[in-house]
Amino acid sequence: MVYPGLSTKIDRVNHESASSEISSDIEKSLLRSIARSQEIEEEIATDPSKFRILTGDRPTGRLHLGHYLGTLDNRVRLQDAGVETWVIIADYQVIMDRDEAGHLSQRVLDLVADYLAVGIDPSRSTIFTHSAIPALNQLMLPFLSMITDSELRRNPTVKAEHEATGGRPMSGLLFTYPVHQAADILFCKANLVPVGKDQLPHLETSRVIARRFNDKYDAIFPLPEALLSTTANVLGIDGEKMSKSRGNTIELAMDEDETAKQLRRAVTDSDRVITFDPVNRPEVANLLQIAASCTGRKPEDIAADIGDGGGAKLKAVVTEAVNERLRPIRAKRSELVSDRSFLASVLAQGNAKANNVAEETLDQVRQAMDMNYQG
Ligand code: TRP
Repeated sequence: MVYPGLSTKIDRVNHESASSEISSDIEKSLLRSIARSQEIEEEIATDPSKFRILTGDRPTGRLHLGHYLGTLDNRVRLQDAGVETWVIIADYQVIMDRDEAGHLSQRVLDLVADYLAVGIDPSRSTIFTHSAIPALNQLMLPFLSMITDSELRRNPTVKAEHEATGGRPMSGLLFTYPVHQAADILFCKANLVPVGKDQLPHLETSRVIARRFNDKYDAIFPLPEALLSTTANVLGIDGEKMSKSRGNTIELAMDEDETAKQLRRAVTDSDRVITFDPVNRPEVANLLQIAASCTGRKPEDIAADIGDGGGAKLKAVVTEAVNERLRPIRAKRSELVSDRSFLASVLAQGNAKANNVAEETLDQVRQAMDMNYQG
């Protein structure tokens, strides 16, 4: 596994410590996580049975290419490598604050369709929702007792979420959602969470809660570790973060013509000679990166092939790469969305399995806390 940018970061830290400057704790812990992720990848290759993965998404809208290339494809890779995988559809995270909560049942089933279409296999991976697993949610109560309000206030993601609300008061659920997320991870005793680096503070909260519970009551929970994604970060067609609200996404659910139309709107520049230059030509570089991620080729090679073909040729090449890569996924997806009862049955099966495991864990927690009064 190659972690983009790792060697330059290590060089920088070495340089800084050589000049006796201390790099920030955040930078150091990021480097530690990157190095540890590399080790974990090697351990997975030799013995995938050592790991149990928990990962998930908020059902806020249809999945797009950024999700697919950034996380979904990686999940499928880990599942196929033989790691037991649990996928939570985080419906209680949709009601935290700014996300709109309409049409939830449709969004949830659409998400199941997206998952299955990209290759998450319900016979190997468990797909379930917060709202169907009472024992998972109950874990939140003892977990809330393990953390202080000032620790939560310092969580950078909680801070960022709060800022995104534009100064409106923060709901109690938003304030405490890292604790809820700890319950997502710990109820099934997952020891590995594939994340982007923005989610690292949450994982730290989960580890703190697990450690404190284990110390205070009984050693029930493994300390979950982060597995940082190795894939290049793909941006939207305007070079900004790919997100539905910006209208810059390529959705899995679009057809080939819609994809072509969307990519014709992509931002490029006036230099007809296409080069891969992320610093000076970020939008062009992003389009090349999308084509590269879809084809498994190098962005520099794709740029060389396009030569002086300009933005129009670049867009045509990217459109073909995206449509080619998504074709089988889209075919499967459109078949799946027409069978809502099948999608519901996949969820019912996952929820049943998650409920069994959550009940078991909650029983152990009651036992550990001396709350088992009925023998
Ligand atoms: N917060 C995650 C997101 O917004 C989704 C999520 C919920 C999650 N519970 C989780 C991710 C547990 C990892 C582990 O994408």
